[in-house]
Amino acid sequence: MKTFYKTSELVKHIKELKAQGKTIGFTPTMGALHNGHFTLVKRTGEENDISVCSVFVNPTQFNAASDLDKYPRTLESDAAGLESIGCDILYAPTEEEIYPNGSDYEVEVDLNDLDKEMEGAHRPGHFEGVVQVVKRLIEVTSCDKLYMGQKDFQQFTIIRQMIKDLNIDTELVVCPIVRDEDGLAQSSRNVRLLPKHRKKASIIHRVLEQAQQWINEGRSPIEITYKAMEYLEIPGFKPEYFDIVDGKTLKKITSSEKVDLIVACTAVWAGDVRLIDNMVLKGTL
Ligand code: PAJ
Repeated sequence: MKTFYKTSELVKHIKELKAQGKTIGFTPTMGALHNGHFTLVKRTGEENDISVCSVFVNPTQFNAASDLDKYPRTLESDAAGLESIGCDILYAPTEEEIYPNGSDYEVEVDLNDLDKEMEGAHRPGHFEGVVQVVKRLIEVTSCDKLYMGQKDFQQFTIIRQMIKDLNIDTELVVCPIVRDEDGLAQSSRNVRLLPKHRKKASIIHRVLEQAQQWINEGRSPIEITYKAMEYLEIPGFKPEYFDIVDGKTLKKITSSEKVDLIVACTAVWAGDVRLIDNMVLKGTL
């Protein structure tokens, strides 16, 4: 595996690979890598000549400085993990390499209000930061295919809209959620869960499955949301939202008729760790 810290060196290397006719697959991450990330990177390697993975904790997408500070940084073990699964290129830039001279790379894009719901409503500015960094990373890596996880449903939906709106010549590939045995979606934040919260965190997945059953039984999305919020209210846990949305527009639905893709998305505080998860209740991605 080749590691690049400098953008100019990575750009030069990728130009050479492209001149040889190689296809580039790219997985952006913020590090603290786990199986979820590694699954994406492995698939990137299988479906492209060259797999590139970036590790960059992007400050512009954090709305609380404390969250940015608390974000785990484990570059050495991330690099070892990537090497062991056969990743070809690790790109680990500093902030200056991504945003030179403090330039903010503001992206003018029509997000069709996809950024107003759910995570967007609870984390102001978050998706502007994500759009900004992913656009920059796509440019730097010149990737043919971009790999993102369903775990962040709203994030990939927004990036898909950005790619469409800006006519970017990159194909987005969405990969299924990787879960621990008890159903908890893997996340870099999980290591911060207190043991007593980790033990009970599978409730999120169980409630999502329950919601799926209720949708199949024809119960109303409003009633399901209400019930799910109630179920998630266990000691130490605080659900922030449990929205049942049209997977294309991300708008809440009031009836499941006439909607092809229905997704339940939730954010739950377990102690001081904010966990997000989702499940397709009807249709396919
Ligand atoms: P990060 O949280 O590190 O996630 C990187 C990618 O891994 C995202 O596409 C995310 O959806 C995917 N991922 C994380 N956990 C997963 C799981 N359990 N199963 C499947 N995929 C999973 O998302 C970000 O970083 C950042 O916002 C980024 C896109 C890199 C921009 O800074």
